[in-house]
Parts: sequence; structure tokens; C-alpha cells
Amino acid sequence: MIKSRILITCPKGIPPFLKQELIDKNFPVLSERRAGVETEGSLDDAMLLNLHLRTGHRVLFLLKEFAARDADELYRTLFGIAWERYIPEDGYLCITSSVENPTIKDSRFASLKCKDAIVDRIKEKCGKRPDSGPERNRSVVHLYWKDDHGAVYLDTSGEPLSRRGYRKIPLGAPMQETLAAAVVLAAGWNGAGNFINPMCGSGTLAIEAALIGLDRAPGLLRSNFGFMHLKGFNEGLWNELREKARQKAKKVLSGKIIATDISPHAVEASQKNAATAGVERHIDFSVCNFSDTPLSGNSGIMVMNPEYGERMGEIQKLEATYKGIGDYLKQNCRGFSAFLFTGSPHLAKKVSLKPRRTFQFFNSGIECRLLEYELYEGTRKIKKPKPDDRSIGDHAPVDAPAPEDGHV
Ligand SMILES: C[S@@+](CC[C@H](N)C(=O)[O-])C[C@H]1O[C@@H](n2cnc3c(N)ncnc32)[C@H](O)[C@@H]1O
Repeated sequence: MIKSRILITCPKGIPPFLKQELIDKNFPVLSERRAGVETEGSLDDAMLLNLHLRTGHRVLFLLKEFAARDADELYRTLFGIAWERYIPEDGYLCITSSVENPTIKDSRFASLKCKDAIVDRIKEKCGKRPDSGPERNRSVVHLYWKDDHGAVYLDTSGEPLSRRGYRKIPLGAPMQETLAAAVVLAAGWNGAGNFINPMCGSGTLAIEAALIGLDRAPGLLRSNFGFMHLKGFNEGLWNELREKARQKAKKVLSGKIIATDISPHAVEASQKNAATAGVERHIDFSVCNFSDTPLSGNSGIMVMNPEYGERMGEIQKLEATYKGIGDYLKQNCRGFSAFLFTGSPHLAKKVSLKPRRTFQFFNSGIECRLLEYELYEGTRKIKKPKPDDRSIGDHAPVDAPAPEDGHV
């Protein structure tokens, strides 16, 4: 089976977690980029990656790197690739692209040239050509072209892997599934101990925690991937990989996952989403204010993702909520590692706790921080700062901004 470079894309901030996932699966890491990690393998390996990766978006199998100055050269180069080996002549093809070339004003023109080269080549070799259009649920080819340098990939994922398929009832401001998985991994949850998720919204963090804790491959939830629409799709191997993944998954968690929200509608949506993901019996849901969340035992990981508002009025209203979160953590959550995911540094300050670590992420293009607060149990003294006192102890309340960019 031919090996090639495989680029796995992801949002900025996530590559360190994606890289670790690849290392854990014994894949080499060829390079780490701002929004992706490169490895190598065969198309069969690409299937395995689609099945198991939690933080990657698209698994792109490199077909060819090339030099092209303009659209005619692009067409000629792409026409020279043996597409008839990969794309069924009676199939359906979608081209996605990332183009920055001085001769191209509209990247759709480059995609069109790419599509023409592929379908013309297939028509010449097979006497028939695939249909084409914008839907990404069948064969997908990705074109990258920056200045004179280009690369074409088979997108073996098709629809991005962030669309796990369990979020049938999304609410406002849900977190992308892949981002939620990265947040759970950053928090260090591995299924042992408790995972507490007040303000659970549509349940994404709790559901991803359950999938991680149970070692359940997220790809088991999906029935359609781009690689299934390529010639030579090894269906037997795919079924074997799925079966192996199913058998490896745990049946029970040693710790507890607790998810709560003040909105009954959110809790109902979370329960339904968890049921679709097949993890509802591993999560205890209830409707309550975050501060009444039942804590199982006196240690574990707590992750909260409160709204962070966009307009001034909204942000002002949320100040009291963030202050309340800080009070709750200090008074009720000693012994827990608490994590706050927010896109507002201003609101994060209202928590008045000094983060031990900070991870940078991006949620729908907004720069966000995951702040970790270590809440020691017992006698560790909390020193109240005087108005001008900025020299602070490890966990003393602080009214200073969260440190910049401390991601792993
Ligand atoms: C940004 S959303 C969480 C999104 C979630 N991470 C997801 O992926 O769907 C914030 C949630 O906090 C809830 N919330 C707001 N104030 C609350 C409070 N005082 N107590 C509990 N939940 C609250 C809202 O109902 C909303 O569902």
C-alpha cells in the first residue's frame, strides 16, 4: 500500500493535543503547524486516524506537491495525476481549496480549474466523468496553492471530524466537539476520578469526557467518511478496525461525570445528545444553578464554560456570574482542579483567582483561554491583596489579568 504524507488540520491552539494523539497511536510527527500536524501513512492508516482522532478536523492524504505559476499551469499539472485510480467515474466530487496566488482573484476559479482537470482526466481515461458540486459527503479533494507552490490531497474525512453526529439539539454558543475534546484532554481527564461540568449547555464537554474516559473512538459515531467514496475502499478492513475499537472501549467509568445547567431546556438537549452518543448512562444530569451542582467526593476535575458575551451590556451582566464562580470555587471546591473556558479576559479577572496554567484556544474564530485553578484543600492560606498589592502567592485572589499564552 502506497504511503504518503498525511496532513491533519485543526483549529489554532489544538496542534499540541493532536500531536500527542498521533504519538499515542504510534504515528510519526513530521511537522507541527499553526493549524495542523503532519504525519505519514497509507490510505488504510488514514481510515484509522479518522476513526480514532478526537482533536483533528480533516485527514488529508497528500497526492502530489507541485509548482504552478498560473491557472493554466495548475490545470496541466493536475491533469497529469491518475485521478481515475481514486475517484469513481460515476461518483460525485467536491473540491475545497485554500488559495493565495497573485494571478487568482477568486479562489473559486482555482477550485474550478482543479475540478476541470480531474473530471477531464477521468472522462479521457474512463469515457465518463463524475458529477461535482459543493456537498462534502462523497469524494472530496483539497487544493492548497500559495504563490507558486501547490499540493493536492484526498480529503479522507469529507465532512469535518468535528461533526461527530451526536449533537442533534444544539443550543446557543455550543463548543465544537473537537475543541471540547481538546479542553478535556488539557484538563487531564482520563476517566479516573470525577469530572464535574456545571453550565453544561448542550453537553459537549461532558459527552467528550465520557467518550475519552471510556476510550470510545469518536469515529464509531459516524457512518460516512470521504475515504468510503474512493476507489479501492477496503470495507473489510474498515469493519475490522471498528470492531477492534468497539472491543477496546470500556464498559464503565471508575469516576463520575456530573453535568448541570440552570436551563431545563439545556439539560434536556444534553441528555438527548448524550443518548445519541451512547453515553447517557455514564453522565448524571440535573437542572440547577452552577453553585448547587452536586459534587461527588472532594476531588476531581471541574470544567465550566460560562457565556462570555459580545456586547458591553451583556458583559456587564456577566460580571456578577464570574464573581459568583470565583466565590463558589474558593468556598466549595477545595481539592478540585477547576478549569474555566472563556473568551473574555475582562470577565476572567472577576473570578479573582490566579490561574496556575493558561491554554490558548480559538472558538469560532474568537481567541479564548482555558484557565486552570488549583484549589488546595486544607490549610493553605489565602492572602487578601491590599489595593496596591500585586505580589501574590500561588493561589491568592488576584485582580491581575490572566497570563498570556501559556499553552503546552
Ligand atoms: C456557553 S454555554 C455552555 C456551552 C457548552 N459548553 C456547550 O458546548 O454547549 C453556557 C451555559 O451556562 C448556563 N448558565 C448560565 N448561567 C448559569 C447559572 N447561574 N447556573 C448554571 N448554568 C448557567 C446557560 O444556560 C448555558 O447553557
